[in-house]
Amino acid sequence: MVERAEKTLATVYPNATTSYVAIVTTPDPREVAARFPPDFLWGVATSAYQIEGSLDADGRGRSIWDTFCEQPGAIELGANAAVACDHYRRVDSDIALIRDLGVGSYRFSIAWPRVQPTGRGAVNRAGLGFYERLIDGLLEAGIRPFPTLYHWDLPQALEDSGGWVTRDTAKRFADYAALLVNALGDRVKSWALFNEPFIFASRGYLLGRYAPGRRSLADFLRAVHVITMAHADGFRAAKAARPSAEIGSVFAMAPCEEATDSVDDRRATAYADAVFNQLFLMPVMSGKYPPPFMQSIPTAALGMLDHDLDRVQVPLDFIGVNTYYRLVLSSGGDDRPDLPYFLFDVLSDERSAGGHADFSTPSSANALRIENAFGRSDGKRTAMGWEIWPRALYDVLMSLKLNYGQTPIEVCESGCAFDESPSEDGIVHDEARVLYHHGHISAVADAIRDGANVRSYHAWSLYDNFEWASGYRPRFGIVHVDFATQRRTLKDSAHWFRDLCALSPSPR
Ligand code: FCB
Repeated sequence: MVERAEKTLATVYPNATTSYVAIVTTPDPREVAARFPPDFLWGVATSAYQIEGSLDADGRGRSIWDTFCEQPGAIELGANAAVACDHYRRVDSDIALIRDLGVGSYRFSIAWPRVQPTGRGAVNRAGLGFYERLIDGLLEAGIRPFPTLYHWDLPQALEDSGGWVTRDTAKRFADYAALLVNALGDRVKSWALFNEPFIFASRGYLLGRYAPGRRSLADFLRAVHVITMAHADGFRAAKAARPSAEIGSVFAMAPCEEATDSVDDRRATAYADAVFNQLFLMPVMSGKYPPPFMQSIPTAALGMLDHDLDRVQVPLDFIGVNTYYRLVLSSGGDDRPDLPYFLFDVLSDERSAGGHADFSTPSSANALRIENAFGRSDGKRTAMGWEIWPRALYDVLMSLKLNYGQTPIEVCESGCAFDESPSEDGIVHDEARVLYHHGHISAVADAIRDGANVRSYHAWSLYDNFEWASGYRPRFGIVHVDFATQRRTLKDSAHWFRDLCALSPSPR
């Protein structure tokens, strides 16, 4: 058991002055554990590209990230994911480590190019075999396997024929979903279709910061609709393959707050909320795109066909949510409120260096500028520049309850990166991460108390890993990875999380 720390959040985060943060006075896991129902699932999360390595093994095809990493300047320090955490070759000992943490759920992703190397056609048995081994090992350890079908690693061959801008990719995704649910549905009950569609669509097709590195508003808008169609087609294909499968999807969500109560700032905030939080969730849940978004673009730009909107609504069995920050929006002082809002003119706050939701693109003359900040200066920031603000998670969960009632919610990612290195004893004493998780888990407990139907919390991430364009600099793991030796060492936060799991054992 971790020693009961006498420090309060306020001493570790001297700037954290709000009452919400201040009520969290101790990282003792006993108090929070007692606030969760017995069937609550504690988990850890990873994604395929960020940990597997072995990019040429067993007939895997190329992915858009392999190509993107080769572009000069795309990834910090020219890093790539050729080895990452070497998980592909260490899967058995990694399962043992996950088991020893005592978690009840492991969220991972399946690399499409391993299973269908060109994104279409027959299954690559050896690639599928890797996931069978992982899933069987998890089940044997009493852990729920919780795969995501698409965590950003599109087969390069599909990008070559248009990527997410082409409607055919939605069909290919549906085939891939059916293939996996057919092959693994006897062992996997809950599936997530996508991870954070807004993030990979905006950063991949509009901002050029993530694979495939395109910078085109036209491509982005078409990708929005193709991904929405893929949600619907993928959901139906998965259900057709196995009606009892639980199919959901995972969305990046952040509460949006206006910087001031001016009319312009309020409009900017409503627009940001519509785009960041609702653009992908609303069509699948309610059959329409958020009105403020539709008012800001020519409908034709989405490339919609007649009757598409009659098909996009699919009743997700659960909503997955990843929350890392709140967004604070201002109109940038623009006094032309009748000009169309366009979130993609957002000028990123300078404190957001390394952030993955900064929407900076060149400003166009006729758009209302929206500036966003990753929080205010009240909370301390992580190595990503994101303000530590546990209340963001509470607000997101309560907004889901408000909009979608009792649809089950899975917290699929919550976590933080800090500049840290092992002390002389070889251990990372990451008290700030313990407090981060404690604060966010308390926020989940508050939301459950207030009626939100949350059934899991997954710490992002199990391991320090390949953090996309930021390479290996940000370390999000509760387990430290020495990338030179591949040695895994539990940080203090992993011990704390293990204590929590032991106090509140997930159902087996
Ligand atoms: C999320 C991604 C995940 C990781 C974390 C820090 O947006 O889903 O892969 O990069 O951010």
